[in-house]
Amino acid sequence: MTEETPAPEDDAPASETRRNVLLEGITAVVSFLLIAVPSTLAGVFFMDPILRKRKTAGGGDDMAGFIKLDLTADAVPDDGAPVAVTVKSDLVDAWNRFRDVPVGSIWLRKSEDGTIKVFNSICPHLGCSVNYRRSENDFYCPCHTSSFSLDGEKTNEVPPRDMDSLELRTATDGIPSEDGLELWVKFLNFKGATTEKIPV
Ligand code: FES
Repeated sequence: MTEETPAPEDDAPASETRRNVLLEGITAVVSFLLIAVPSTLAGVFFMDPILRKRKTAGGGDDMAGFIKLDLTADAVPDDGAPVAVTVKSDLVDAWNRFRDVPVGSIWLRKSEDGTIKVFNSICPHLGCSVNYRRSENDFYCPCHTSSFSLDGEKTNEVPPRDMDSLELRTATDGIPSEDGLELWVKFLNFKGATTEKIPV
């Protein structure tokens, strides 16, 4: 009695099954890529402002909160004349970055010993702008006649306190250094009409 050999057509269902498994595998991989790649790109897109905000928070931890000014130390007059500067910063909300937005203005002045002093130009009385008064060589607020010396000390009884001084650092390429020409200021606004200097 001879053993029957399977007919060749009996292999067809097995190879078809293998082909189906292979096709299903390819379909699954392609489907995964179609979903995963756009999702990853969308994630990077939406996270980007947050990541950039962290990268541009300042010139390293030492300069966190400091804003680089548009002028350099050698541009501040040696004769003690004050110079007004607009402070600009990048404002970032959840998904947008607005570059170089004016956030305030300051007065800078070189003292006799060469150090640079910085004052917020907002009057500590009720918030008008303090100007340089050339005729008296002092700072003066025209709203209610507050006056201050060039060192920021009040010289009449109108303002409740001296002008608000701000912290300044010199740096080179964003790294703090005593002889650096870059000027970085920790810009803050303060509450008006109080004797205390209270950041707002
Ligand atoms: S706001 Fe400056 S004097 Fe009143």
